[in-house]
Amino acid sequence: MNSSSHIPLTSYREYPSTEMLIRVTHFADEVHRRRTIRDFSSRPVDRAVIEQAIRAAGSAPSGANRQPWHFAVVQSADVKRRIREAAEAEEREFYSHRATEEWKDALAPLGTDADKPFLETAPYLIGVFAQKFTQTQDGERLVNYYPIESVGLATGILITALHTAGLATLTHTPSPMKFMNEIMQRPGDERPFVLLVVGYPADDCRVPAIVRKPVNDICSFL
Ligand SMILES: Cc1cc2nc3c(=O)[nH]c(=O)nc-3n(C[C@H](O)[C@H](O)[C@H](O)COP(=O)(O)O)c2cc1C
Repeated sequence: MNSSSHIPLTSYREYPSTEMLIRVTHFADEVHRRRTIRDFSSRPVDRAVIEQAIRAAGSAPSGANRQPWHFAVVQSADVKRRIREAAEAEEREFYSHRATEEWKDALAPLGTDADKPFLETAPYLIGVFAQKFTQTQDGERLVNYYPIESVGLATGILITALHTAGLATLTHTPSPMKFMNEIMQRPGDERPFVLLVVGYPADDCRVPAIVRKPVNDICSFL
């Protein structure tokens, strides 16, 4: 994967400054339409769409270009049922014992609880895993750099690509998520990062009335 050879940059495109602003404004408007949903339809989704979204995710920058991610895509009803059972068991513990009152207060406006029917309803679950190590072809084990940051960036692109395709997602983090390694057949040294639920919204889907911080509150120009 690592190569010291360099090639001309042919993929870069420059736009006139007026078009630049139009393009980025359009993109900002588009991504602001994205909402996390928790009521999914069981309507099927073409697997090729999922594959292209994952291809987009695989374009993310990564520490030392190690590309330390794996996306385990679940379609099987049986595997989804096992994931739901394991996630709900962890979530019941979370809501009744593990979560602090402060954490539960923060979640209250979202109306979430330990029941996760969408884990069986949605057509796809994507387990995103962060790889702490890379195994080379000659069996050497290399440490990856910034795997969590890299996988976070890839996941953001994945969510955005699925949104662009007209699908909705839920970024789910059943706490803890170690059960994902066994059910999704991933090695023990991979860290489950998120469980992404993917599909169409249910007809009667409702979402929490949240407000996003205005741009002036989230940036500073120096
Ligand atoms: C790292 C992370 C973990 C999350 N975990 C959960 C979760 O376990 N369950 C859930 O219902 N929503 C979860 N969410 C979704 C957030 O609640 C949601 O993104 C937030 O309320 C903003 O809503 P929006 O995505 O519609 O803008 C998570 C989001 C992130 C980024």
